[in-house]
Amino acid sequence: DWTPGNVIADQVAAIRAQVGSSRVICGLSGGVDSSVAAALVQRAVGDQLTCVFVDHGLLRQGEAEQVEKDFVAAIGVKLVVVDAKQRFLDVLAGVTEPETKRKIIGREFIRVFEDAARDIVADAGQGGDVKFLVQGTLYPDVVESGGGEGAANIKSHHNVGGLPDDLQFELVEPLRTLFKDEVRAVGIELGVPEDIVWRQPFPGPGLGIRIIGEVTADRLDILRAADAIAREELTKAGLDRDIWQCPVVLLADVRSVGVQGDGRTYGHPIVLRPVSSEDAMTADWSRLPYDLLAEISNRITNEVSDVNRVVLDVTSKPPGTIEWE
Ligand code: XMP
Repeated sequence: DWTPGNVIADQVAAIRAQVGSSRVICGLSGGVDSSVAAALVQRAVGDQLTCVFVDHGLLRQGEAEQVEKDFVAAIGVKLVVVDAKQRFLDVLAGVTEPETKRKIIGREFIRVFEDAARDIVADAGQGGDVKFLVQGTLYPDVVESGGGEGAANIKSHHNVGGLPDDLQFELVEPLRTLFKDEVRAVGIELGVPEDIVWRQPFPGPGLGIRIIGEVTADRLDILRAADAIAREELTKAGLDRDIWQCPVVLLADVRSVGVQGDGRTYGHPIVLRPVSSEDAMTADWSRLPYDLLAEISNRITNEVSDVNRVVLDVTSKPPGTIEWE
């Protein structure tokens, strides 16, 4: 019988058998997979697990708090938070090319995670060896990467692949046999907060690839504010589970003339990219109600300084990708 409870019981037994009394670390990204994987391992071995959350400053409003407060409160994990916001701004300074951004963000992420892991290993003296690393690999990831034991060479940076030689971990992958909807059911059963369990897809490089142009602290603030408004209105309209995701993009190098109050403005456009999809391989633009679009547009242009236009992306995938970079 497939029930979340049975999956949890089986995995708890398997995790205990695999890790014994060793210590385990897990990188949390704020996404569903790493959160549910961590919650399962926590259920199995409790305080032998230490989670690491790298705050790269490219998350949306409230997401870091969701991990640092809500997840910890719900699951009771031991969490190390690394504030790496300035580090990421430094390495992204002057960078505009999308693939270069991705590579830089991925590389920096691994460096920060490595440093944190090294510290944890170093003061593990009292509790024995740190031998295991948790990964939220799902069944479709296993299939995609050719299956078998090689599945550790992971699509995105928040699944930490190539760690250096002095950090050799054995992988714990408790979600390897599960599909996304099953992971969600298991997450709910384990008490993972609903905002995390039902989070829409969000790219590992985060808002870094939703600012078209250089990533700066000011631009991140603008985009975070606009994105928060769009998400709030979509939630209020009850559409969170109907649309696949809705990237909000800042065209940071584009300005257009506007008028507000009694003055001329020269601000940036924000792009709304709501899409419907089954698996992100193909997508269609979502036909959102006009009144909702009007409300999002009014609020963003009124409440977010430096934004004087909101535009809607009406491109399917293909030919457009879901993200703009
Ligand atoms: P595209 O833009 O290729 O996006 O149509 C397809 C899906 O993948 C997400 N995405 C990423 N996820 N790391 C991730 O973890 C990435 O670098 C990345 N790039 C795109 C995107 O949000 C969409 O759901």
